[in-house]
Amino acid sequence: MKLISDITDLRIIRRTWQDDRKMIAFVPTMGNLHQGHLNLVREAKKHADIVVVSIFVNPMQFGPDEDLDAYPRTLENDKSQLEALGVDALFMPKASDIYARGLEQQTFVEVPGLSYMICGASRPGHFRGVATIVCKLFNMVQPNLAYFGEKDFQQLQVIKAMVTDLSMNLKVFGVPTTREEDGLAMSSRNQYLTDVERKLAPTLYKKMQALTAEIKLGRRDFTRLTAEYKQQLAELGFNPDYLEIRSSESLLQPSHEDTHLVLLAAAFLGKTRLIDNLQISL
Ligand code: PAJ
Repeated sequence: MKLISDITDLRIIRRTWQDDRKMIAFVPTMGNLHQGHLNLVREAKKHADIVVVSIFVNPMQFGPDEDLDAYPRTLENDKSQLEALGVDALFMPKASDIYARGLEQQTFVEVPGLSYMICGASRPGHFRGVATIVCKLFNMVQPNLAYFGEKDFQQLQVIKAMVTDLSMNLKVFGVPTTREEDGLAMSSRNQYLTDVERKLAPTLYKKMQALTAEIKLGRRDFTRLTAEYKQQLAELGFNPDYLEIRSSESLLQPSHEDTHLVLLAAAFLGKTRLIDNLQISL
């Protein structure tokens, strides 16, 4: 596996792959890799000749009160896991190269609408930071294919919209959420949970499954339904941020004719913010 931190080095090796007509897949991450990330890599490997993974903890997508400094960094372990999977190149750019003109002077990419609702409403500026870094990484790696987790469902929709709107020459694929055996969606942030919180955490997904079952049985009073489940989560010890049933592509309020819905959830357990989602086909 090639270890690359310099953008010029990346461009040089990228040119040799292009000359050899290789299909290049890209998996951007912030490191602290778990099976969820590794399943994106496995999926990418199925469809490409070359797989590039990036690790960059992107300051632009963290709010002032968020966990940028505390974000877990486990580079040596990440490297060996990627090496074992046969990743061709690991790109680890330096923040000073990525944001050479400083965060304030940075040109940015904004996907309006999609970026302001749901998670975007709770985390102002977050999706601008995500779209901007992913656009920059796409410009550096110039992949043919890119893989993102459905775990961050709104992020995936933001990236897809950006790629369409800016006529970017690549295909974006979503990969289903990888879960722990008890149903908890894998996340680097799960390690912030105390033992007691960790035991309770899978209940979020269980409640989401129960809510989904009610919809499948015919309930359509979504506002009341989500309010009921928020209440149940609060009684169990969660501090729910949102629980929303949306149309799965636009993420707008669903119409009566919508057959592809998504249940999106975010809830705090102590200091840790868990997010999850479930797609619902009617
Ligand atoms: P990060 O949280 O490291 O996640 C990297 C990729 O792994 C994202 O596409 C995310 O959706 C996916 N992922 C995380 N947990 C997953 C799980 N349990 N199952 C499936 N996929 C999972 O998301 C980011 O980094 C950043 O916002 C990034 C896109 C790299 C831009 O900075």
